[in-house]
Amino acid sequence: MDVTIIGTGYVGLVTGVCLASLGNKVVCFDIDRDKISKLKEGRVPFFEPGLQDLVKEGMAKGNLRFTVELSDALQDASFVFLCVGTPPTEIGSADLSFIEEAVRQIGLTLDHDIYLVTKSTVPVGTNRRLLSLVSEALEEVGRDPRQIHVTMLSNPEFLREGSAVDDFMKPDRILVGADERWGADILLRMYAPFECPKVIMRLESAELAKYTANAFLAAKISFINEIAEIAEKTGADIREVAEAIGLDPRIGSKFLKAGIGYGGSCFPKDTRALYQIAGSAGLDFHLLSAVIEVNNRQRDRFVARIRETLGDLTGKKIGIWGLAFKANTDDVRESSAIDIVRRLFAEGADITAYDPQGMESARKMLGDTIQYASDPLSAAAGADALCVLTEWPLFRSVNGVKLAEVMRGTHVFDGRNVLADLRMETYGLTYHGIGLCKNLPL
Ligand code: UDX
Repeated sequence: MDVTIIGTGYVGLVTGVCLASLGNKVVCFDIDRDKISKLKEGRVPFFEPGLQDLVKEGMAKGNLRFTVELSDALQDASFVFLCVGTPPTEIGSADLSFIEEAVRQIGLTLDHDIYLVTKSTVPVGTNRRLLSLVSEALEEVGRDPRQIHVTMLSNPEFLREGSAVDDFMKPDRILVGADERWGADILLRMYAPFECPKVIMRLESAELAKYTANAFLAAKISFINEIAEIAEKTGADIREVAEAIGLDPRIGSKFLKAGIGYGGSCFPKDTRALYQIAGSAGLDFHLLSAVIEVNNRQRDRFVARIRETLGDLTGKKIGIWGLAFKANTDDVRESSAIDIVRRLFAEGADITAYDPQGMESARKMLGDTIQYASDPLSAAAGADALCVLTEWPLFRSVNGVKLAEVMRGTHVFDGRNVLADLRMETYGLTYHGIGLCKNLPL
């Protein structure tokens, strides 16, 4: 099938590249010329495991190409996937100006029928509004929207950064929101190779389901983080509690890792946006506002603990392991780690950080407010305390004896419990995890 992807960020590029690898003819469009020229050379502008090889493969087979010309992108299109960002506005709602402009431009350019498929996360009612925008744009250039038929479909993505290619190729479900079943059925043909539940629903249900999935997962994280605090104060251990409840299939074992809270380009944005969606419908989503508040408090608590342990942070040397919002990505957007680094810096700490992938993107946000090290031990060298802020498995393989040797102080604050079972005390270090019991396990 002929597919056009509008927007080559994480979602757009992964979608385009994976659809090309399934044998579709894919053209990816973006207004960012730099990005497109890199992609034309087969270079992926961000880190995502497996993506680079698939880009090269798709281009070599002639199934994948890139363009900055919308008319070129649309000329053969049957399916146009909207993968444009919907970043948060100041009040937390989704900023739809980019997607609306993209849709308007499509309407101004289009000369044949298409299926317009929204992958971007958009508030309930947006797809219906986008459809009117296309019609208006078609009319604006003298085309009759009854002659050129645009079928609007909502097809939310559930891709996790770091495993996005795998998530696309092995989905646990595919949702299609539509006005009529036949439109959804045609899109589902593209997903025929995947054996997973494929659910067709109303446009509005698909839109709301996406936000609900992310808000529910965020709630799981905030819930376990609150229990972690109780555990810490009562002599329980959050890892044992999480294991116990995770064995109940109604609860499930995933997303029960306590820590410094969720970050990234989706959870913080989508929880705030859903809160706004509820507000616009005249509802106060109490539970969700608590989820957001607890997530912010995790960061406050972490910094407070460092302050309580080390005293005034002015001039204290702090080593940081991890800047990305989670492991296996270079993405630092809304990263808890970046927020904590900023807070420590504001309190006068002298910071040296290391992240296996996120250094370049972190530098863009933090500039020269901190120093950057080329490996974990150099980040910890001379430090009064070490903070582990991203769950990179690499940190577990650092030699504890050497770590204790290079540090000036002894405190290790682990915001992800990555080093929890490595008995840091045996190296003379003082280990502080989240929701852990200091006594030895049974
Ligand atoms: C998320 C959703 O999982 C995906 O389905 C959606 O489409 C996009 O948003 P992503 O943003 O890549 O994906 O990150 P995810 O793996 O879900 O992690 C989000 C955050 O939660 C990370 O900061 C992670 O460190 C944190 N987290 C996750 C926890 O703190 N504890 C956990 O148990 C799990």
